Amino acid sequence: MLTFPKVVYKNKFGLPDLAPLGTFKGQTILITGATGGLGLAAAAHFINLGAATVIITGRTAARGQTAKAEIERQRLDWHNWQRCVKKEVKSIDYVLLNAGMFPASLRLGKEEFEESIEIKEAGKGSAHLSVVTSGLHRGIDISPGKFPQQDILTYWNKAENFNKGTMYAINKLLVQYCVREIAKLAVSPDGTPQVIVNPMCPGMVKSDLGREYKTNFLISAGVDAFMNLAMKSTEGGARTLLLAALTTKAENGKHFTNYQSDEDYLK
Ligand SMILES: NC(=O)c1ccc[n+]([C@@H]2O[C@H](COP(=O)([O-])OP(=O)(O)OC[C@H]3O[C@@H](n4cnc5c(N)ncnc54)[C@H](OP(=O)(O)O)[C@@H]3O)[C@@H](O)[C@H]2O)c1
Repeated sequence: MLTFPKVVYKNKFGLPDLAPLGTFKGQTILITGATGGLGLAAAAHFINLGAATVIITGRTAARGQTAKAEIERQRLDWHNWQRCVKKEVKSIDYVLLNAGMFPASLRLGKEEFEESIEIKEAGKGSAHLSVVTSGLHRGIDISPGKFPQQDILTYWNKAENFNKGTMYAINKLLVQYCVREIAKLAVSPDGTPQVIVNPMCPGMVKSDLGREYKTNFLISAGVDAFMNLAMKSTEGGARTLLLAALTTKAENGKHFTNYQSDEDYLK
């Protein structure tokens, strides 16, 4: 088990290597939630490592345009950017479901489920599908009395059950369960996965994820100071998002990280 100082040390000095140049040559990549943070950093990496097309999604066109400009600024060789998947793209090599939020209050989404739970939509990938979850899902106690044993989504839709600060980890636990089931569905009758599906955690990354908690100047300064001191950059965190596109068929369904062994995760 890593202690907190070791985690910080790894965040600052123990980043995984970036995949080699050309690794994603000619590939088409779809990234949700790429208007900032890890998604944007991953998009820039993919482009610089040879992807032919990187499709980014965002909720607002303005933030999408700003992200596009930022990726272009960071590009070594910019190839393509498209806003519409259906019209232009015939196949996708890697679908990276990254969009996520750390809610500070209960809000229901369009489909009447707690908003952070509702974000992930099923993607279609011809080779890899990765979903950015979080190692925090490990800390949720699901025993009776601590966690609803039935009607789970209805339970978390109620304001009296909203656990400020914990909803994020609960959302990630539910995503983790879903991704594991999707990984099983991806296996064809002969036992080989048609799509390699992985839940994945990049570790602690300085991003805009804590935005809802920055309610005044002092808290904002505290959150920023902690992130600067303890967390890795989005560029460094995004390396894990890329490495998850390179997992093997034998790793289908595995929770992918760079900071914990499989053995420790299973414990
Ligand atoms: N940062 C960390 O330490 C860390 C650790 C483990 C896992 N993660 C996960 O990594 C992923 C990316 O997070 P980040 O740290 O890069 O955070 P971020 O900087 O806040 O970026 C989040 C992205 O998700 C989008 N998004 C937020 N709420 C959405 C919604 N309701 N519907 C659709 N898109 C939405 C945002 O788009 P808008 O521009 O529209 O807001 C933005 O592009 C998340 O799934 C997060 O849980 C982060």
